Amino acid sequence: MYFCEVMKKILVTGASGFVGSRLVERWKEEYSILAPRHGEMDITDADAVEEFFTRNRPDVVVHLAAISNTGYCEEHPEESYRMNVEGACNVARASAWCGAKLVFFSSDQVYNGNLESGLLTEDIAVHPENVYGRHKLEAEGRVLDICPEAVALRATWMYDLEREGMPTHANFVVNIDRAIREGRQLRFPVREYRGITWVGEVVEMLPHTFDLPGGVYNFGAENLLNTYETAYRYCEAIAEGLGKATILPDHDRYAEHVRNISISMDKAYKASGGRIGFRESGPSPLPLPVGRGV
Ligand SMILES: NC(=O)c1ccc[n+]([C@@H]2O[C@H](COP(=O)([O-])OP(=O)(O)OC[C@H]3O[C@@H](n4cnc5c(N)ncnc54)[C@H](OP(=O)(O)O)[C@@H]3O)[C@@H](O)[C@H]2O)c1
Repeated sequence: MYFCEVMKKILVTGASGFVGSRLVERWKEEYSILAPRHGEMDITDADAVEEFFTRNRPDVVVHLAAISNTGYCEEHPEESYRMNVEGACNVARASAWCGAKLVFFSSDQVYNGNLESGLLTEDIAVHPENVYGRHKLEAEGRVLDICPEAVALRATWMYDLEREGMPTHANFVVNIDRAIREGRQLRFPVREYRGITWVGEVVEMLPHTFDLPGGVYNFGAENLLNTYETAYRYCEAIAEGLGKATILPDHDRYAEHVRNISISMDKAYKASGGRIGFRESGPSPLPLPVGRGV
């Protein structure tokens, strides 16, 4: 018997960004990927989104387009709302209309007002303290109202090395690597706990999310170490003594309350039958991106 498996058509919004560019590069042979530029499909323009979906009829939508800079969102809350909430709703309406599975990137910043310690689960009440976190939280709720089968991923801070032809904003590893090269020291908060995840793992895991039941899922590395300890261990993994020489503790940041946005991956792990999992940011050294010699 002969049969021809038709490639799944995946629409990636924000394909020119940090995650999107790596996602397209990794999966372009396995899937038929649609990667409209900002100018081709502005997500804040509901008509443009509807028109693109009508013309292309994707099977899966990975919605990455957003304003991801938290400081910028704080200073431009209306712009943040238009992109991070209304833009996400436009994509959700069009996905619901054409029956596409929607996977949408939210953020672990929804937890930034929580006072609990340990690894946080999706079922606890959250009350984010900044504009970005509040808008991501509102988007989760509204997207799931429009599209109950959508999957909202609470992603952690992601990192990669600088790569030619790929956008790489300042991230954990790039910041530390630059400091090492320039012989500078860096301070990291002792009163902060967060997952720090290699974007390569996020991209690798992503197709497993297409089969998840609709809902909110944490998505990234678990980490029980504080950010100072995580940075220290990352340096020590490169060369013994580098941690002490480069990484200093910052005891003042988050003085008002310990910032714990560290996630538990139990829900996605179980719901995916054990297929979705990340290496911990600690206590083992951070997973090093391919290309970084130890
Ligand atoms: N990076 C992280 O560590 C991190 C952590 C947690 C969650 N997230 C979330 O993960 C997702 C991806 O993040 P990222 O770091 O890859 O973001 P990014 O690098 O800032 O990329 C944002 C993308 O959105 C596009 N875009 C901006 N305005 C648009 C519009 N009006 N219509 C259509 N496209 C538009 C940009 O295209 P142009 O450049 O052409 O405007 C770019 O491709 C975001 O939802 C972010 O909030 C990221």
